[in-house]
Amino acid sequence: MRKLTYFIACSIDGFIGDPEGDASSMLRFVDEEFVSFLKEEYPETMPTQGRLAFGMDDLPNKRFDTIIQGRSSYDLALKEGITSPYAHLREYVASRTLTESPDPNVEIVADDLLGKVRALKAEDGPLGIYLCGGARIAGELMDEVDEIVIKTYPLVYGSGMPMFRSGFAVTEFALESVRGLNNGVVVRTYGRKR
Ligand SMILES: NC(=O)c1ccc[n+]([C@@H]2O[C@H](COP(=O)([O-])OP(=O)(O)OC[C@H]3O[C@@H](n4cnc5c(N)ncnc54)[C@H](OP(=O)(O)O)[C@@H]3O)[C@@H](O)[C@H]2O)c1
Repeated sequence: MRKLTYFIACSIDGFIGDPEGDASSMLRFVDEEFVSFLKEEYPETMPTQGRLAFGMDDLPNKRFDTIIQGRSSYDLALKEGITSPYAHLREYVASRTLTESPDPNVEIVADDLLGKVRALKAEDGPLGIYLCGGARIAGELMDEVDEIVIKTYPLVYGSGMPMFRSGFAVTEFALESVRGLNNGVVVRTYGRKR
């Protein structure tokens, strides 16, 4: 069984972006140490353009071979004219409005998102599935999330987009690791208690 990992950037108060989802204020913490951390631990979570810019495009995938995004998150790349933002992964975009995929590497999931994710998890293979977000798709897939990796940035938003747009339910996770960076970013890994 492959793991579904929600790998996400958050403010201290748990928001993944401003009320519209814009997380660009977190970018100031993407410094040399942060990029080294990604290179060592999660090179595949850097979009293709960033991998080229930071000289990491030849690094093999370490944890994931597949990514799932909601259409609103994918739109951020499309607006830049990028149709395959994670070309080094198998890309799935959940959408009922994108009737045709803009890129051969991107498969649109319009029906039975949960069933698709369960099928991907049931595949054999050493690498897992990167749930990129945003809040709506994460809320819908909450029950399938096996691991959460939260990059907490030293920022308070006051209000904003939550990690999961879902109903109230208490779900317990166990803390597995904590790594602090000198710029104040803390990366915590939690495994789901089943
Ligand atoms: N801080 C971070 O690390 C981080 C990471 C990722 C994203 N974000 C932010 O999150 C924001 C977007 O989040 P969001 O919650 O607004 O949207 P989202 O979850 O990215 O996308 C929502 C869209 O996904 C599609 N969808 C959702 N459930 C579906 C289902 N069951 N079947 C088929 N399609 C489904 C729908 O697309 P259609 O409307 O096309 O049907 C829906 O409108 C962005 O602004 C981004 O900046 C932040």
